[in-house]
Amino acid sequence: MSLIKLVPDQLEVEVDSGTNLLEAVVEAGINLKAVCGGSGTCGKCQVIIEEGEAEVLDQGNLSSDKLERGYVLACKTEVKGDLIVKIPPESRLSKHQVFIEEEVDKREDILTEEELAATQKLKLDPIYRQIELELNQPSLTDNVSDLERLQIELNRDRDLSSLQASLPVMKDLASHLRENDCKTQVSLSKLGDNYEITELKSLDDPKVDYGLAVDIGTTTVVVELVDLATGKVAAREGSYNKQANYGDDVISRINFVKENEGGLAKLNQAVIGTMNSLIDEIVSQQGIEQSQIKTAVLAGNTTMIHLLLEIDPNNIRLEPYIPTVSFVPPLRAKELNLKIKEDGLIHCLPGVSSFVGGDISSGTLAAEIADRDGITLFIDIGTNGELVLGNKEWLMTCSCSAGPAFEGGGITYGMRAMSGAIEIFDIDPKTYEVKYSTIGDVPPIGICGSGLINLLALLKDVGIIGRSGKFDEELEHERLRDGEYDKEFVLVWADDAGIEEDIVISENDIKNLLRSKGAVYAGIRMMLNSMALTEEFIDQVLIAGGFGNYINLDDALKIGLLPDLPLDKFKFIGNTSLKGARMSLLSEDKFEEVQEIAKKMTYLELSAENYSQDFMDEFVSAQFIPHTDLNLFPSVTGK
Ligand code: FES
Repeated sequence: MSLIKLVPDQLEVEVDSGTNLLEAVVEAGINLKAVCGGSGTCGKCQVIIEEGEAEVLDQGNLSSDKLERGYVLACKTEVKGDLIVKIPPESRLSKHQVFIEEEVDKREDILTEEELAATQKLKLDPIYRQIELELNQPSLTDNVSDLERLQIELNRDRDLSSLQASLPVMKDLASHLRENDCKTQVSLSKLGDNYEITELKSLDDPKVDYGLAVDIGTTTVVVELVDLATGKVAAREGSYNKQANYGDDVISRINFVKENEGGLAKLNQAVIGTMNSLIDEIVSQQGIEQSQIKTAVLAGNTTMIHLLLEIDPNNIRLEPYIPTVSFVPPLRAKELNLKIKEDGLIHCLPGVSSFVGGDISSGTLAAEIADRDGITLFIDIGTNGELVLGNKEWLMTCSCSAGPAFEGGGITYGMRAMSGAIEIFDIDPKTYEVKYSTIGDVPPIGICGSGLINLLALLKDVGIIGRSGKFDEELEHERLRDGEYDKEFVLVWADDAGIEEDIVISENDIKNLLRSKGAVYAGIRMMLNSMALTEEFIDQVLIAGGFGNYINLDDALKIGLLPDLPLDKFKFIGNTSLKGARMSLLSEDKFEEVQEIAKKMTYLELSAENYSQDFMDEFVSAQFIPHTDLNLFPSVTGK
């Protein structure tokens, strides 16, 4: 065994010789950035070996200066003896900025006014509900069984044609009815097209029944505790998904499963562990029992759902991109080891394809796209970009492989929206001096997505880069220099940074950003083209996801990420995946509607033969700022 000491945290862990250093650090309790899932390509998991013996399998693209200072890629280093390892701040995965978490702290009422209005609009008819009943007393002339008596009464004014009872209910039924003088509260759970009688309670039982709405994002997991009798949200907690230790986007996580023995179980435990920690927090905060949480509705992308169910997701990334399951039958909490009532039903909202999952069906429901005459463009930019276009007549969707650049992936100093991330820049057009502000007002350690979009727009505005994203060849300034691999512009000098080096944006970073924004815009164009529509037909643009809450619309239009439409057509609508899960929990109609949405949505596979060339053409044109066709951006270009 080797002893690994981690500084400055003063944590220790004992591991077998030969253990991967990234795994050892995670085991010690420090979460490292591991954007590429340990394939050695992202360079984000850098640590410094201060003392001891380790075998470096691959140096990746670490600069010679860093190598001399003892830097290694943790994912490509094996422990060979006792070690002292320093974890630099830029390599840490610190608390993610979860939009709604902040809201919870500030508001007495957890829901925003709009969310509250949407919830109030719902006809409260939860998929797990209590019904109070008084049964006829049995007699020699009324001698049907207790269960039939219960079923008859349940069906008296309702249409619950297909009712079944769980074994624990049948075992308890006789004594429960006799002890309570045939007065009871019956819990009914939706189970496919049937209803299950899941619990019997006396009329004076004071315990409140709760349900969970969960958004399982690739980056963030958010759990909401909902009072099923009133529809009120009692608590909401969010944190980053612990799977982030094994890769930033779905493809790196699938690769991790493929390349590591036991990888599937690790990712499964990571997401279940994330959800259970959030449930623990909520349960102790609210002073309730786990068994009071009776059911859960989960919304997640297709890969997240496969990993949650411990189903190998490999085919998701292999042509023809077929998921194992899109419509997941209801499951029991104990099957997933989820810390709610043991036999509580877990409902995963249905997906459409390998790259358009239940989070998007849920978002489409929450955004009420299928209720409107006008055409809505729905955009969810997270670690990938998913789009929906449609109205009450038709719905179309696509995934545009935007990649994780807007969450910092593939960008040298890119990072998620965490403390120390620069979110706003200002560049003097004459002196090129750079000002910035960071999340948490601390010295900068990187740039988050909204900061990158703002930066791209500014670099173009002041002429440091041209429309193709290349640095101006004529420009001479100390901030513009040849970096180790390509040209770079210094944004923050090391003396002012929270890390021991200059923070720069390289030409390759800009290329990656242009690819991402080009993919989103090309996806929008492809959907419009396939319906023979143009931008003017779009009635509203709804931007979902945490990322949407931070981007500056002007900047997003300037760089050509979004279509050039009047600003009042755009609306940020927050975490629609979570909202849709809550709506499905509280309303059986909405639960049915989201199934219909997933069935009805036409999926546009952009890599299919009949679309791929058109998509490539659109994609190439959209990799300019704002586009090769300036007529598409009249307000930006003045054309
Ligand atoms: Fe180590 Fe990417 S280089 S996780």
